[in-house]
Order: sequence, then structure tokens, then C-alpha cells
Amino acid sequence: MSKNKLFRFAEMKKMEHVLEPSMEEIKNGAVDYKGNWNKAIFKNDNPITLELGCGKGEYAVGLAKKYPNKNFIGVDIKGARMWVGAKQCVEEGIENVVFLRTKIDFIDKLFDRNEVDEIWLTFSDPQPNKPNKRLTSKIFIDRYRKILKPGGIIHLKTDSDVLFESTENEIKEHGYNCTYFTWDLYNDIQKMPDNIKDILHIKTHYEELFTQRGHQIKYCQFYIN
Ligand SMILES: C[S@@+](CC[C@H](N)C(=O)[O-])C[C@H]1O[C@@H](n2cnc3c(N)ncnc32)[C@H](O)[C@@H]1O
Repeated sequence: MSKNKLFRFAEMKKMEHVLEPSMEEIKNGAVDYKGNWNKAIFKNDNPITLELGCGKGEYAVGLAKKYPNKNFIGVDIKGARMWVGAKQCVEEGIENVVFLRTKIDFIDKLFDRNEVDEIWLTFSDPQPNKPNKRLTSKIFIDRYRKILKPGGIIHLKTDSDVLFESTENEIKEHGYNCTYFTWDLYNDIQKMPDNIKDILHIKTHYEELFTQRGHQIKYCQFYIN
């Protein structure tokens, strides 16, 4: 492992707002903040939004700044990326973001029923050859169903045709309620309500990268419960 990564991992171990549950804890149901996020971690009763596959956490941090009365949790398995957002929170005194380093596959072992208000999927890996690993596949959606409040929105922002098309098919096949769907977000954004328009302008590292390559950005939102 590079010196830079080792440094970041060591720093994150000391950060109270970075949680790294072990596989044993997860498997044995010993994660004591499951069902207890607000009381034990955030010390308030504010709604919780997850950014799954958060990378550097641009959405978790960007939304947290806009909505100080909501709580945000960035989830990813890659710690060195997550350090960027975690460090930004320290430097800017942002107190309503926590980072959770784990596999999203275990998300229903880390949150209780109805504990989550909203989910953002930001430039998720399209997994062209492994459809079940897509974060909008039925396997993952069924995990989110166990933790999302009724009517809790799932947002997907992506550059990937493969992921967007497969998500469209999943929405139709399983009868999820689609509340917004566009293959060309920045062409349609002017027609959208101001509150969502503002949020959709937040750009992640991968969005910048793919935009530079000329990819069109797609966006949809839907709910499953
Ligand atoms: C293409 S990157 C996007 C990162 C960031 N959201 C962005 O837009 O810049 C996808 C991220 O999802 C994470 N990821 C994908 N599948 C995952 C899983 N099953 N569990 C945890 N993290 C996952 C990867 O580690 C990676 O950081």
C-alpha cells in the first residue's frame, strides 16, 4: 500500500465521524449503532440520507452544507477516497456527516427498518458483466427496502447508458414509483423545481471526469415502498 494511503487510513482511524465496522461485528449483529444512529451518533432526531458508493463524498458533504438540519452518511468500501470528504468535514466544521466504510451489500445489517429517509446513488459502477452487483439491481433494492421509510426516495445520477437502461427496466418490471426520469439532465434541469435543481448541480469526481469525456448525465428518482 502506498505511503499516502497508509497516512489516510491512519488519520481516519482517529476521526470520530468515520466508522469502520469489522466483518465479525456485522455478521454477529454486534453493530451497536444499528437502529440507534440518531441517538448514538448524530445526537439529534433529524432525517438520515445515505450516499451509497460515495467515493470522496461530494453529495454527502454538499447536501449536508445545504441542509444543516438533516444527517448524511457516505458509504463506500474505498477508504482512501472517503478520506477526502472526511477531512473536508473536519476542516470546515461540518458536523452532520458521517462516513461508513463497508460493503453496501451489508447495508441492511447496519440500519434498522425505517431508519433511512433517502438514498443517493452517485455514478455507481455500471457492472456491465455482473448485473446483480449493480446498486439498482433487485438484490440491492430489496436491501434498501428493509431500511427506507415509506415513500423514501432513491436518486440515481449516472453517465452510464448500461446502468440507466437497466434501472429503467427494473423500475418497470418491479413497479417502483418513478417520480423523475431524464436521459439528459442538464438539458432538462431548467424545467425542474428549484429545490431539486440546486441539488443536482453538485458535481462528484466521476461526474467531472465523465463530463470532460463528453458523456451525457442521466438522472432518475423513484420510491419502492
Ligand atoms: C465510480 S465510483 C463513484 C464514486 C463517487 N460517487 C463519484 O461519483 O465520484 C463508484 C464507487 O462505488 C464504490 N462501490 C461500488 N460497489 C460497492 C459496494 N458493493 N460496496 C461499497 N462500495 C462500493 C466503489 O468503491 C467506488 O468508490
